[in-house]
Amino acid sequence: MCGIVGYIGDKSPTEVIMSGLHRLEYRGYDSAGVAVVNNGGLQCIKSLGKLKIMDQKLAEQPLDGKLGIGHTRWATHGVPSEVNSHPHFDMQKEIAVVHNGIIENYQELRDQLTAEGVTFRSQTDTETIAHLVRKYYQGDLFAAVKRALQDVTGAYAIGVISKDNPDLIVAARHGSPLIVGLGDDEAYIASDVPAIMKYTRKVLYIDNGQVCEIRRDGYKIEDVHGNPVQLEVKTVDWDDAAAEKEGYPHFMLKEIHQQPDVIRNTLRGRVDEGSEEVKLPDMNISVEELKACQKIVIVACGTAWHAGMVGKYLIEKFAKVPVELDLASEYRYRDPIVPEHTIMIPVSQSGETADTLEAIRIAKRLGAKVASIVNVVGSSVARESHGVVYQQAGPEIGVASTKAYTSQCTAFALFTIWMAEARGVMSKAQAKEMIAHLRAIPDKLQWVIDHKQHIIDLAALPKYRDAQSALYLGRNYNFPSALEGALKLKEISYIHAEGYAAGEMKHGPIALVTDELPVVCVAVEGDTYDKMVSNIQEIRARRGIVLSVATEGDEGIKQHSEDVIYVPSCHEPFSPIVVAVPLQLFAYYVAANRGCDVDQPRNLAKSVTVE
Ligand code: G6P
Repeated sequence: MCGIVGYIGDKSPTEVIMSGLHRLEYRGYDSAGVAVVNNGGLQCIKSLGKLKIMDQKLAEQPLDGKLGIGHTRWATHGVPSEVNSHPHFDMQKEIAVVHNGIIENYQELRDQLTAEGVTFRSQTDTETIAHLVRKYYQGDLFAAVKRALQDVTGAYAIGVISKDNPDLIVAARHGSPLIVGLGDDEAYIASDVPAIMKYTRKVLYIDNGQVCEIRRDGYKIEDVHGNPVQLEVKTVDWDDAAAEKEGYPHFMLKEIHQQPDVIRNTLRGRVDEGSEEVKLPDMNISVEELKACQKIVIVACGTAWHAGMVGKYLIEKFAKVPVELDLASEYRYRDPIVPEHTIMIPVSQSGETADTLEAIRIAKRLGAKVASIVNVVGSSVARESHGVVYQQAGPEIGVASTKAYTSQCTAFALFTIWMAEARGVMSKAQAKEMIAHLRAIPDKLQWVIDHKQHIIDLAALPKYRDAQSALYLGRNYNFPSALEGALKLKEISYIHAEGYAAGEMKHGPIALVTDELPVVCVAVEGDTYDKMVSNIQEIRARRGIVLSVATEGDEGIKQHSEDVIYVPSCHEPFSPIVVAVPLQLFAYYVAANRGCDVDQPRNLAKSVTVE
């Protein structure tokens, strides 16, 4: 996830662009760049690191002009570096492109362009767009961009300018957000409204497949084949403070709502529609290594450890390899046994958690192959591992992890299918079916979000809002869901909450059940459904307040529960991804009703870089 801004008009383009990029810094902040058209040429400044470094560079070397584009980066292809930062150029440095998204067929395009004589400067997918636009440019930039995009698959929001067109920005969108702001004899493009709210409230929300020709006194929108498109100009009435959160009161709520898109991004480029196989080349594990693997070790902390537990259940069930799951802080202090042919999978949103890093170093010393699941590109965990699956979830700002968790579970699902197929324990037909189930998940998450009003109503009831304590129960794949649901509630609402394997209830927690104890029971359809219903009855018999999370259409569960939250029917092994969302929403609304500082709960930190 990156942020893009463009401006054409009488103001200083760099001032407008930098002000906009600062409002978009939440989208990524590993490097930045600005290009302007000026005196018949293109001028560009780039910097590695946060935007303040770019501010300093621009103060020392001001860039002048009547139009420009800028970018703040969240690396997906190629490490954070000046050369990989945007804008990217054609070989002649006459066309500049900023891009947010992922070009899925970039390797194929890169090979093709290289064969045609193009030399690439960076490792990014974006640079292919600049060279493609050049290839099709015959004096009409709008036409060249439309033609170039016909060759591209994947997600993009782009801004394109050229030396020859000092009065034109071409922008396009497919899958990544893009708006056009309209001013008085001036125009803007941006990834998000907050970037330009200071200057204008008149906005066009560009849709997938649309390309815009933007001049200071007008605009034209077409699809990539040149068919005209009409869009209504909308007026934004958000107040400034709410803007970065896109109108949501907290980043956490925004990030919960982003999950359908986040899962699409985690899957993007790794499973094609109708595909029978998963592609995870950056894991840097060969098919021979997958076949020879005797043991997998998953290490992580906090929420990432819960995702690791989902991974353990999936890998053992389908890839038939024994999995050891450990808290990184424990792994490093016991004498772990690492037999030959062990693969370690560390899981970390930030990629900077001190204990996880130390666990990696120990496992490497003991001869393990280390391939991590990480969100932040170029982070320490990614760099110290032999290979990596980037989650592609975008920056997570809320301290309580939400979208990172579901995308980590999704990454484990991908890895499982890949490994199971490679080891010959999953047929192509079964893999295809599993992939189809995975691809269906984003719509199911959207369904939960669209039906959140019921969760909002429940979270306002005193029996939940004012509870002293809560218990979360689940079995099998949804035991980690119970742990994660309880963690979400306790960390943001400060209600004491415990997650338990439902089968363990009779070995202790049942002693806590009274008519004041909410017990959240994950009882979605699947192999352990009947066992969960028995546990629910045991709680009800002791007058506990049962809040069940069940499958839509399960009317029977209502007899045993005080309240029910429904989720759409889904393939049981992937149900933790779907179940996570109502549990996050429930914790969020309980905490918000209690007046808690949801995004920055007391005593917690987003990234724990000390032991
Ligand atoms: C902190 C965060 C959690 C996170 C954990 C592990 O406790 O508050 O949200 O799950 O660290 O962080 P990592 O960045 O390694 O996933």
